[in-house]
Amino acid sequence: MSDAAPEASARAALEFVKDGQTLGLGTGRAAEAFVRALGARVAEGLSIRGVPTSERTEALAAELAIPLTTLAEAGRLDVTFDGADEVDPALDVIKGYGGALVREKIVAASSDQLVILVGAEKLVAELGARGRLPIEVLPFAETLASARLAQLGCPALRRTDADGAPYMTDNGNLVLDGQVSAIANPGDLDQRILAIPGVLGTGLFVGMADAVIVQDGEKVEVRRR
Ligand code: A5P
Repeated sequence: MSDAAPEASARAALEFVKDGQTLGLGTGRAAEAFVRALGARVAEGLSIRGVPTSERTEALAAELAIPLTTLAEAGRLDVTFDGADEVDPALDVIKGYGGALVREKIVAASSDQLVILVGAEKLVAELGARGRLPIEVLPFAETLASARLAQLGCPALRRTDADGAPYMTDNGNLVLDGQVSAIANPGDLDQRILAIPGVLGTGLFVGMADAVIVQDGEKVEVRRR
């Protein structure tokens, strides 16, 4: 997010919430601001259920006494609220700098609507502008995936923790950060990467976001597809 705290966009996101809904709860700073704002509404009597996209968000929602359910129980969700790392003018998105990309995409795809919350600094002319495309890969497939990604012109580095150990997702997999520049055709690149055996998902969310809430200082703008 921008220097401004993400609370203003979190409040704007609450406008999309109706009593009785089942909501996807994203991961990261913007999503967590939304979860906190939602928790305050739940404490005042709002009745919703949440499906978290990560263990971190699950712990926060539990702390705030937000009722949780699972995708298996809920089936379809009404709206998912999540952050993003890049948003282009078509409202296509790169996610996954926080490592929860695969669960985030599954929850978003299970939802009637996806609402993205970002600071204005995440707006880019073309996806890839920040140089990184997160890709979740089965550990068994790392060598093959790295070689194929390089062939696709997207050489990748294995993500590590602060202590240099391989970063592991909540699903027990690796994240390879593809080195990219402006991506001419995000949908096509997504399909090519997904065709590599052992790749579980990319951070490209193409055609998925219904609305993007952009916070610039204290100013909040809602962009709709
Ligand atoms: C988590 O995997 C990510 O997709 C985050 O949603 C994304 O990186 C945005 O996070 P911030 O709101 O913390 O920037």
